[in-house]
Amino acid sequence: MITAINNNSPQSNISFKSYYACNPKTHLPASSSFFGDLPTLKTAVSLIEKNFPNGTDILVYAGSNGEEAISILSLLRKPDKFNIYSIDPFKNAIEYAKDGFFSVHWFADDAFLINNKLKTDAEKKAAKGFAKHLREIERPRFDLNNIPEEFRALERENPYFTFERFYQLKPFARTRIQFIEGDIRDIGKFKTERPVGAIFFRNALYHLTDNDLVGIFNHGYKPNTEVNRYEILRALINDVDKKLAPNGIFVLGNHAQEHFYVADKYTPKTRQENIRGIPIRLDPLLDTVLKETGHFESRYMQKVTFLNGSLERPLIWQKTNS
Ligand SMILES: C[S@@+](CC[C@H](N)C(=O)[O-])C[C@H]1O[C@@H](n2cnc3c(N)ncnc32)[C@H](O)[C@@H]1O
Repeated sequence: MITAINNNSPQSNISFKSYYACNPKTHLPASSSFFGDLPTLKTAVSLIEKNFPNGTDILVYAGSNGEEAISILSLLRKPDKFNIYSIDPFKNAIEYAKDGFFSVHWFADDAFLINNKLKTDAEKKAAKGFAKHLREIERPRFDLNNIPEEFRALERENPYFTFERFYQLKPFARTRIQFIEGDIRDIGKFKTERPVGAIFFRNALYHLTDNDLVGIFNHGYKPNTEVNRYEILRALINDVDKKLAPNGIFVLGNHAQEHFYVADKYTPKTRQENIRGIPIRLDPLLDTVLKETGHFESRYMQKVTFLNGSLERPLIWQKTNS
């Protein structure tokens, strides 16, 4: 069970345990981590730097508590050229992001930041960038709020579980990143100083399309077959397309539910198959919608695992001029 996020204490000023955050309104995960899917983030940042050498504005939707935007900043070689907007509709996450205090826990994906033994070269480089923008602070007097009771019990029994470090965002990073409450469906109205060279929307498409495969396959939730997922994605990609500058990139996450879709009543029967009793689309819906624009091309593929298999899926798309 996930304990609800408790923001009542004025001292609860440290970022929530991002690997376990859950939005109590939607019951969907708001979890994030620093450098989640490092290969994709690194590729995205080098494409941004190559295509926008004089800088650009970067929109990080589904920014959660800011850890993704801070990771992007940490990977940029000339961060002063870029403005980053970290945007999320979950108010608590934005409040934590604005406070600027974070923790890295032994149990999270970004544990390499606090574990010197197991770092790859790419992780070492990422950790160096991280240290440029965050300074380590003492364990705060008030601990965080949404730690599941099971973890607390483990912590009491096993000191390894308490291995955690705390950080504060440095002033320069605060000048480069703005944390804003907002929804990607309003992207058309979002004002930036310059044309937008990159839009990130990672591991959140399932929130928009009611495509929670983890809930459906692992917890037996009833799949929603009433929504028109093709139309939802078409509206989103249309808005993203309008907002992105030529050569701009659109970056997706590597969760299966971002790439494999529940078939709905609008899906032709020939394009679906029942998997464990759930109607699943056979065609790569998101790719279809992006290709229909006539000018998005895939720039980076990664293996995405789904049930017992995996398939290479495009995670970075570029808006070409054609
Ligand atoms: C699982 S988290 C992913 C966080 C981060 N992008 C990552 O991959 O680590 C999903 C986030 O998407 C946000 N979200 C859900 N619907 C959204 C929308 N319509 N526009 C922008 N963000 C949304 C949620 O509030 C949540 O913080």
